[in-house]
Amino acid sequence: MTNTDNIKRAEVLNNQLAGKPAAAVLKYFLNDFDGKVAFSSSLGAEDQVITHIIAGINASASIFTLDTGRLFQETYDLMQQTSQKYGITIKVMFPDKDMVEQMVNEKGINLFYDSIENRRRCCHVRKIEPLQRAFKGLDAWICGLRRGQSVTRKDDQLVEWDATNGLLKVNPLIEWTDDEVWAFIKKNHIPYNKLHDEGFASIGCQPCTRAILPGEDIRAGRWWWENPNTRECGLHKKE
Ligand code: ADX
Ligand code: SF4
Repeated sequence: MTNTDNIKRAEVLNNQLAGKPAAAVLKYFLNDFDGKVAFSSSLGAEDQVITHIIAGINASASIFTLDTGRLFQETYDLMQQTSQKYGITIKVMFPDKDMVEQMVNEKGINLFYDSIENRRRCCHVRKIEPLQRAFKGLDAWICGLRRGQSVTRKDDQLVEWDATNGLLKVNPLIEWTDDEVWAFIKKNHIPYNKLHDEGFASIGCQPCTRAILPGEDIRAGRWWWENPNTRECGLHKKE
């Protein structure tokens, strides 16, 4: 299929599934793309909602996480707790050790604070390259993006063609609000990262995440030293 065909197919699916509950969207992709779809979880609040729903549909669905090697202990604790509670396997993707060694020996262990270029290189080595390996053999990936998360996500769709990675991208919570996410977590007793109770809204790597102040944007604590328009790691880059 050409790129135009893929964009059209994504649009058709998007229109067909628009307004349907997240569980119905997930059921559709887990069934129709069986063996060719995976959910990428960062163990964030949205991802915990999706994991809960997926576990109720098919506990052996493919779920993976990118362990950058710089995550919070609380995130690792949640990873283990979640796998045990739901009886699921969260496949862990690690960065390529040679790429990490070369990068930190050349630029320093905390290179990300020095320049956007360094920060992007670190995200590439620790997240993007492992993500691309995780994509092998897949036709679709499920993510926890929401439009309300940031200016960079306001135009994202429920189903999109991800031209960068050559996959359909499915965002079942695209229209959910932050309040809806938390109400669902509380109602269903879903395990979540303890750092959320300490003012951390969006949680990524430890050196690149801080708690936010009341009234601050939900992603203000991610790469907080950068301009809001550059605060994406490249996972969700548009061509
Ligand atoms: S990020 O691009 O800035 O890191 P964010 O933390 O908001 O993204 O997460 C958005 C979605 O990207 C998550 O819901 C998840 O689907 C995916 N994602 C982000 N980080 C990871 C990770 N470390 N492992 C797997 N998926 C991830
Ligand atoms: Fe590196 Fe920070 Fe990106 Fe994590 S978020 S991969 S530590 S630059």
